[in-house]
Amino acid sequence: MTRSVLITGATGGIGAAVARAAADRGYRVMVAGRDAGELDRQCGQVPGSIPVLVDLRSPDGLATSLPAVDRLDALVHCAGVAEVASVEQTAHSMWSETLMVNVVSAAEITRQLLPALRRAVGHVVFINAAPGLHAVPRWSAYVASKTALRELADCLRLEEAPHGLRVTTIYPGGTATALLAKVRAQFGRAYHPADCIQPATLASVVLTVLDMRDDAYLPEVSVLSTPRR
Ligand SMILES: NC(=O)c1ccc[n+]([C@@H]2O[C@H](COP(=O)([O-])OP(=O)(O)OC[C@H]3O[C@@H](n4cnc5c(N)ncnc54)[C@H](OP(=O)(O)O)[C@@H]3O)[C@@H](O)[C@H]2O)c1
Repeated sequence: MTRSVLITGATGGIGAAVARAAADRGYRVMVAGRDAGELDRQCGQVPGSIPVLVDLRSPDGLATSLPAVDRLDALVHCAGVAEVASVEQTAHSMWSETLMVNVVSAAEITRQLLPALRRAVGHVVFINAAPGLHAVPRWSAYVASKTALRELADCLRLEEAPHGLRVTTIYPGGTATALLAKVRAQFGRAYHPADCIQPATLASVVLTVLDMRDDAYLPEVSVLSTPRR
């Protein structure tokens, strides 16, 4: 039977790479994003993929926009926003967007798709943030959202163990995407894409996690770029 995967943030750097890698491994890929044009472009690059138009700022609409699937082997949460601003500068609208996109929608999508994931005895993967990320001045909303995402994953793992679901959190270091370029610029730090983890490399880690034999799995994975001499 063909395995299926739904990937959020599939129009972004990491999500798009995961979508391509999953298609290469024979998955039926559902690519979720909020920009119809970008989704079409992405589907053109991922053979057989199905677009899923969702705006994760509005989890209320997710029940009707997610595909009605009977079975789902894997759900990979890649969508994220990472605005850099101090607490003083962060309006509640930015807190709301960050928590909605990065955590609340991830929980709601997982909830909506749980019956299909349970039927397939599936796997949920959360793309979190750099290993050990905590208390970064001017990044409170993002850091708070990723801490909450880790706890969401840990609760889900315990709750769904009786159904055989596997839940993995991946903690990537700096990965060469538009998000990192913007974040580094906002922090006034240099950005050298060639020194970062490449999205295709991170995607290969996600696929390694998904494709492990079913007697064991990786609950947490940290990924760092190789130090340059
Ligand atoms: N790049 C890194 O160095 C790095 C390191 C650690 C962790 N991460 C995490 O990896 C994940 C992917 O990041 P990335 O680097 O691939 O960033 P990216 O290229 O900016 O991709 C982010 C994705 O999230 C989507 N998204 C944002 N807001 C959305 C919304 N309201 N509704 C639907 N989709 C929305 C974006 O869609 P639009 O293009 O339409 O906005 C895009 O597809 C994020 O969770 C990030 O925190 C990244």
